[in-house]
Amino acid sequence: MYHNPVLLKQSVDALVINPDGIYVDCTFGGGGHSREILSRLSDKGKLFSFDQDLDALKNAIDDPRFTLVNQNFRFLENSMMAYGISQVDGILADLGVSSHQFDEAERGFSTRSNAPLDMRMNVMQGLDAKKIINDYEEEDLADIFYHYGELREARKLAREIVHHRKSKKIETTEDLKSLFSYIPAFKQNKFFAQVFQAIRIEVNQELEVLKEMLVQSYKILKPGGRLVVISYHSLEDRLVKRFLKNGMFEGEPQRDVYGNYAKAFELLQTKAIIPDDNEIEENSRARSAKMRIGTKL
Ligand SMILES: C[S@@+](CC[C@H](N)C(=O)[O-])C[C@H]1O[C@@H](n2cnc3c(N)ncnc32)[C@H](O)[C@@H]1O
Repeated sequence: MYHNPVLLKQSVDALVINPDGIYVDCTFGGGGHSREILSRLSDKGKLFSFDQDLDALKNAIDDPRFTLVNQNFRFLENSMMAYGISQVDGILADLGVSSHQFDEAERGFSTRSNAPLDMRMNVMQGLDAKKIINDYEEEDLADIFYHYGELREARKLAREIVHHRKSKKIETTEDLKSLFSYIPAFKQNKFFAQVFQAIRIEVNQELEVLKEMLVQSYKILKPGGRLVVISYHSLEDRLVKRFLKNGMFEGEPQRDVYGNYAKAFELLQTKAIIPDDNEIEENSRARSAKMRIGTKL
């Protein structure tokens, strides 16, 4: 199985409100969400699905209403323009990496297998985990561990990496893990998950591309159109929530001359929607999922 989709029914229920409409799935993966969207569309409906990973192309759906775009979703607006489309009815993003990407050991995403330090979703891009670990300045490494991994000992970790790489290049996930073998066994899973998450976010510029996609979503959605985002860590969820609630990512929300907050979206539920216990039992990836739904005003 390439990927077991999370919050499948709930996300597509929220997304597809016009069966004749044009929809975008920003994160095609194994195509679980895309297939569900197509099942709700009429003959007139259309779906454009994006994925930057070449592996996802083999899951393309043979359907005249469907187009697969092998592109980063940071190019959402321009890519849709290239298809002559300036307005869409709904946009879905199921962020992060697929189970396939985790399970393919040589991609370097998993803390469990030894593999070259890579972690690129798009294998054509230049920046990979090896470059970050071996070439970044100590201060930049520390910032990544602190901001993206939420690791309090970020400065110490960066110092250790820089000290070690002076004598020997850090090539593999095991090379990297071996530097921190002093971490007590009961803390290792969480610790390495945070370290790997931080590096992965930097390799794929996950927060930057998410912000770009959210801003462009607003531009190409029709009024009343839906934006549905499923995220898997608090850094992403915070950006999505703030954007849908206040139309901005940081700072104080702006008020208009009447003292009302300027709004771009109506956030449909203040609390994030999360998978139920059954789904979490069947699909461990669902445990950290949070879904936000916004309607463009
Ligand atoms: C969690 S999976 C999506 C799974 C999908 N919903 C399904 O049902 O199979 C995320 C997918 O989005 C892709 N992806 C993540 N960030 C992307 C980006 N910035 N641009 C394009 N594709 C991206 C990944 O390559 C991966 O295949």
